[in-house]
Amino acid sequence: MIARIVRAFDGLDALSEDAVDEIVRVAARSVAERGRFSIALSGGSTPRRAYELLAKRNDMDWEKTEVFFGDERFVPADDPRSNYKMARETLLAHVPIPAGNVQAIPTHVDTVEEAAEQYDRTLHDRLGRNADGSTVDLALLGLGPDGHTASLFPNDAPVLEQSRWAVPVRAPTAVQPPVPRITATLPFLNAARMAIFLIAGADKRPVLAELLGDAPGASRYPAGMIAPREFCLWMVDRSILPPDWPNA
Ligand code: 6PG
Repeated sequence: MIARIVRAFDGLDALSEDAVDEIVRVAARSVAERGRFSIALSGGSTPRRAYELLAKRNDMDWEKTEVFFGDERFVPADDPRSNYKMARETLLAHVPIPAGNVQAIPTHVDTVEEAAEQYDRTLHDRLGRNADGSTVDLALLGLGPDGHTASLFPNDAPVLEQSRWAVPVRAPTAVQPPVPRITATLPFLNAARMAIFLIAGADKRPVLAELLGDAPGASRYPAGMIAPREFCLWMVDRSILPPDWPNA
C-alpha cells in the first residue's frame, strides 16, 4: 500500500511555501545520493506560485537539476496555454539552470503522435532508470475536477498504457483547454521516487472527497492511480477538504 500523506494548508501561499521546502529537501537528498536531481513539472495554474517561490531560493543546485514535464498541451511554446511557457516565465528564466538541463516536450513537430514519440525517447535517453529502477526523483502533479492528473483523463486509453513513458492524448472535452496533449504515463509516473500533488480550487472539492474517502468510484480517477516508489504527498488547500477531515 503506497504511503499517501495528506497535508492541509490555509491557502495557496502557505501550500506553495511548504511545497518549495519539500522540493528543495528532495533535491538536496537526490544530489547528495546520486549527484543529480530530476523533476517532472506539472502544468495548470496551481503550481505557479510555487514556481515563483522556487525561483527565489538560493539553496538549489541548478547545475545538477534536470527538468522534465509531466504533460504539455500541443500548442506552440509561446502560446498562453503552454505549460512550458508558464514554467519558463515563473521559474526557468530566473534560475541558472543550463539550457541543456531542461527537456521541454517538443510541440513544434507536425503531429502530437510525433511529439509523444520524441518525448518518450527523450525520457529514456536523458533520464533512463536509476540503479533502484526509478525514473524521475520527483513528479509534481495537479488534480483536475474530473480526477485527471497530468493529461491522464478518466476512461481514456492513455491511462491503460503499460510500456511507453509518454503518449499522445486526444483533446479532452470535459476540461479546458480542449487541445491535444502529450502526457507522461503511469509506468513512468509510478516509477518516480516521489510524487507531490498541489491541490487547490473549489472545483476540486467533490473529486477530492471521493479520492480521500476511497469512495467506490474513486478507483477510476487517474489521480488515484498514482503510486510512486517511496511516497505520495497530497498538499491540499484546507478550504476544499471534506468538512469531517481530521484537523481540517
Ligand atoms: C495541465 C495539467 C493538469 C493540471 C490539472 C489542475 O496540463 O492542465 O498538467 O493535470 O495539473 O488540470 O490544473 P489547475 O492547477 O489549473 O487547477
